[in-house]
Amino acid sequence: MTKPVLRVQDLAVRFKSFSGGLLQRKERWIRAVDGISFELHSGETLGIVGESGSGKSTLARAILGLLKPSRGRVMWLGEDLTTLDEEAMRQRRKELQIVFQDPVASLNPRMTAGDIIAEPLWTFYPNMARLQVEERTRGMMKMVGLLPNQINRYPHEFSGGQCQRIGIARSLVLNPRLVICDEPVSALDVSIQAQIINLLKDLQKKLGIALIFIAHDLSVVRHISDRVMVMYMGQAMEVSQKTDLYLRPLHPYTNALMKSVAIPDPKLARQARQDSWLTGDMPSPYMRPKGCIFHDRCPYRVKRCEADVPALRRMESGDWVACHRAEDLDLSIQGASTGSLG
Ligand SMILES: Nc1ncnc2c1ncn2[C@@H]1O[C@H](COP(=O)(O)OP(=O)(O)OP(=O)(O)O)[C@@H](O)[C@H]1O
Ligand code: SF4
Ligand SMILES: [Mg+2]
Repeated sequence: MTKPVLRVQDLAVRFKSFSGGLLQRKERWIRAVDGISFELHSGETLGIVGESGSGKSTLARAILGLLKPSRGRVMWLGEDLTTLDEEAMRQRRKELQIVFQDPVASLNPRMTAGDIIAEPLWTFYPNMARLQVEERTRGMMKMVGLLPNQINRYPHEFSGGQCQRIGIARSLVLNPRLVICDEPVSALDVSIQAQIINLLKDLQKKLGIALIFIAHDLSVVRHISDRVMVMYMGQAMEVSQKTDLYLRPLHPYTNALMKSVAIPDPKLARQARQDSWLTGDMPSPYMRPKGCIFHDRCPYRVKRCEADVPALRRMESGDWVACHRAEDLDLSIQGASTGSLG
């Protein structure tokens, strides 16, 4: 097997905040990302899923060097990005790109589609001939399913889905080797979501890039992912091959997310609602539960779960899970659809 292009090792990011008034000001920390490790190969897609606040975007930003981690390493092609100075990191950014959640808000309304897509070329290759830039920009527009003659239009003249295509073209214009898509479809209509997911999947196949695709919902990442990492309060609960995860999740939290996916059959949907036990919200990031971080929402918890932290460990299948009871729980998905977009 080829070497991974990206190796994330025990990555952690903390944010400082203050509670209380001026006189009783108390420092406190949020562990937004707390010891995440995984590898990614060229041409592979890792889906990352978790509820709001689970640390997905923070992880993405730390990998891209947009945030300083408090611990851990981001090994890109064998080089630790966390130790690079600003200029060296700027050079690596050509290879590492991001697609944002809100396509309309993330595009500069005063720039034309062509200028938005071409901007990274001007930044990194200021001496590139104008004609060459235009040719490349039109080529990118075609590649993402936009008409090259729309090059001089402004973002407000495009639909949400088309704006996301502009964002994708911009992220690919420098021929990156890793693209992180941070909830690229959650602001779009369901009918458009599948088109964008299919586009990303086709482009990835064609270009052989490594892709990280972040979403709230397991159904969104199913079509595009080879492996899926499920995050909860900054930690990985499970990292499994897609084929394993959607048939038999290993972690109770994955199982809960699976059950919250829309089920087309009304009878099965009713049953799933009755079975559903992912109640309440995630605990406050300032009050992290002891032991298993998921224990206060887990119906399978035993005494040990309240005190011992389950390590993320490798199962015989090669999948990874952080649960004391992974061997004795059978969380196979029977009947309930794990419907996929795309
Ligand atoms: N700049 C910041 N300062 C302080 N806390 C932050 C900051 N950015 C994120 N956080 C906190 O870190 C935690 C993880 O946030 P993050 O945005 O990474 O989650 P997420 O999984 O991307 O959520 P969502 O699905 O809503 O986008 C949250 O508790 C959030 O409030
Ligand atoms: S370790 Fe215990 S509380 Fe945590 S997910 Fe597993 S069974 Fe549930
Ligand atoms: Mg986010």
